Amino acid sequence: MMEWTDRHCRFFHRLLTRRALIYTEMITAQAVLRGDRTRLLAYDPFEHPVALQLGGCDPRQLAQCARIAGDLGYDEVNLNVGCPSDRVQEGRFGACLMAEPALVGDCVAAMTAVVGVPVTVKCRIGIDDQDPESALDALTGAVQQAGVAALIVHARKAWLDGLSPRENRDIPPLDYGRVYRLKAAHPQLAVVLNGGVADLDQAAAHLTHVDGVMMGRAAYQEPWRLLAVDPMLFGEASPFTTAKAAVEALNPYIGRELGRGVRLNAMTRHILGAFRGVPGARAFRRHLATEAVKPGAGIATLRDALALLVDIAAAPAHTAAA
Ligand SMILES: Cc1cc2nc3c(=O)[nH]c(=O)nc-3n(C[C@H](O)[C@H](O)[C@H](O)COP(=O)(O)O)c2cc1C
Repeated sequence: MMEWTDRHCRFFHRLLTRRALIYTEMITAQAVLRGDRTRLLAYDPFEHPVALQLGGCDPRQLAQCARIAGDLGYDEVNLNVGCPSDRVQEGRFGACLMAEPALVGDCVAAMTAVVGVPVTVKCRIGIDDQDPESALDALTGAVQQAGVAALIVHARKAWLDGLSPRENRDIPPLDYGRVYRLKAAHPQLAVVLNGGVADLDQAAAHLTHVDGVMMGRAAYQEPWRLLAVDPMLFGEASPFTTAKAAVEALNPYIGRELGRGVRLNAMTRHILGAFRGVPGARAFRRHLATEAVKPGAGIATLRDALALLVDIAAAPAHTAAA
């Protein structure tokens, strides 16, 4: 998620779940090929398994990017066919590619031809006045033929004319049934459902219909929920019993990155939701919001913020057992 799932966020989320697949922000093919590639594609080996999401519509460029991603050790390469922003539409990629299934197929074919890791697509159920039945079927047919490894479906349309990207995440109605039907019609295709999944119980319920669930805002805004992923969905112990323990485990990483000149706030902004609902969480957030931006802010700033939390043990929802 752009501006959200940068490498600092991903490192923190990996502390909370060893098993969930984590995605980068969308990075355009143009940026990978012409921009500061080292900075844009940097990740910590601890983030594995981590997928790189690309935006673009030129099969040749996307193949070059996929090769680069494979060489860098990314575990998956994903093509964005769901972003509705004007900038992305001007580039003729993102959600508007729902209207060009053959081109998406060409992109996926070009990428699968050059990379050994899975190539996946994230799409919508349709755009504007498209019929979600035929639009999603057409896209699915094209990418399946091209060797896509999984299709992640944001279970609502994108309305490209008149809605902002933010509105396009809430206003077009969710249609989980359409995603379930897609899976039922394509038992061999890995189908992942996305959109409006608020907690792990909901995710588990969807998993009786589809192969995977992608959580966006709930995972970012309330990252403590990720502590339940490994025990609930993978039958493995949670890496930490409390969100506080996970945040404290971030200290060595923060120390290292501060030493490289990264500002504290660039990292701590991703943990503001870690204690939502816990007494003292507001004071924790406020302290970080005001202090972590100051020059010289460091590990002590985070420690002081954590000290404002009241008795985490009294909030069982924020433990791995949730
Ligand atoms: C701040 C923000 C940035 C996003 N950036 C991306 C992106 O780069 N690529 C993408 O495929 N989806 C992006 N999305 C959409 C989410 O991945 C997801 O499809 C959408 O929020 C619905 O899922 P959710 O209800 O679980 O959040 C973004 C969403 C938000 C809130």
